[in-house]
Amino acid sequence: MATIEAAGLTRRFGELVAVDDLDLAVDHEVFGLLGPNGSGKTTTVLMLTTLLRPTSGTASVSGCDVVREAARVRERISYVPQDMAVDIKLSGRENVSFFAALYGVPGRDRVDEVLAIMDLAERADDLAGTYSGGMRRRLELAQALVHEPEALFLDEPTIGLDVAGRQAIWAHITELRRRGMTVFVTTHYMDEADHACDRVGVIAKGRLVAVDAPAVLRRQLGGERISLRVDLPATPVTVEGARLVRREDDELIYHADDAAETVPALLAGFAAAGVRVRGLEVAAPTLDDVFLALAGRQDEGGSFDYRRFRNLMRRR
Ligand SMILES: Nc1ncnc2c1ncn2[C@@H]1O[C@H](COP(=O)(O)OP(=O)(O)OP(=O)(O)O)[C@@H](O)[C@H]1O
Ligand SMILES: [Mg+2]
Repeated sequence: MATIEAAGLTRRFGELVAVDDLDLAVDHEVFGLLGPNGSGKTTTVLMLTTLLRPTSGTASVSGCDVVREAARVRERISYVPQDMAVDIKLSGRENVSFFAALYGVPGRDRVDEVLAIMDLAERADDLAGTYSGGMRRRLELAQALVHEPEALFLDEPTIGLDVAGRQAIWAHITELRRRGMTVFVTTHYMDEADHACDRVGVIAKGRLVAVDAPAVLRRQLGGERISLRVDLPATPVTVEGARLVRREDDELIYHADDAAETVPALLAGFAAAGVRVRGLEVAAPTLDDVFLALAGRQDEGGSFDYRRFRNLMRRR
């Protein structure tokens, strides 16, 4: 049996189906749950961590049912929520000691150990209020690790951190996995998920629409990404065989089955429209592209077309 299992897991809020019939098995890996805002990530995590009752379906951690054996599940897991959760009036060490006491972990050794693992030993006796955002996140991880959980749930662990801070968090997550922990993480950062997650699941409107290794999903999407930088104002040109998937300021991103065929047509189209193309790049699709194909633009929050996706995947 996998460390984390869900079968038909569903949560409704009135008419809204926030998580819809989710089947999943996660075991000794870093699993990333990706999805637009409001797609059901936090609701899923809350159910798996016993904090929210499923409307229907079942889930278990290390074989313990999240509803019937909630206390047992809680002994075996840790959960770091989306919002910060350290006491700024206590020192780093006191914060971790508090969690150690909650879980009945005796002595100071384990507290010192997790502070060292999270590179906080030198600042352990400073007030958490004097820590940077990245240090607070690491302190939350130290708290979460103190009772040696079998499964660690992290909701948006790197949000609001600078590049170095994010890299540090992911390096720690990778190390925990190496030591045998099962890590379930949600994130909006596709490049980070691509590097750090063994497998990712894409959730859109409560439905899990794809689960696989990032590289497999990228390969399945296939085709090429064509990125064009144009002089503004510019109306995007449409040509057969190239689909405009994103527009960011002066950058237009197309997805094409065969870039060699469509790039000349695109360039001719922009030339005819009197728009100067200043940059052109053709590359293999990224996890971002997979995400856009599966879940649509984040700010549209639900342009996902399941039938279109199935057809897309079937064609490959
Ligand atoms: N307690 C609640 N009562 C009513 N609706 C809720 C409740 N909690 C969540 N929802 C709704 O369920 C849906 C899923 O929310 P959820 O927080 O799981 O999304 P999310 O994927 O974590 O989003 P984000 O990326 O913004 O954190 C949303 O439409 C949300 O408004
Ligand atoms: Mg959330």
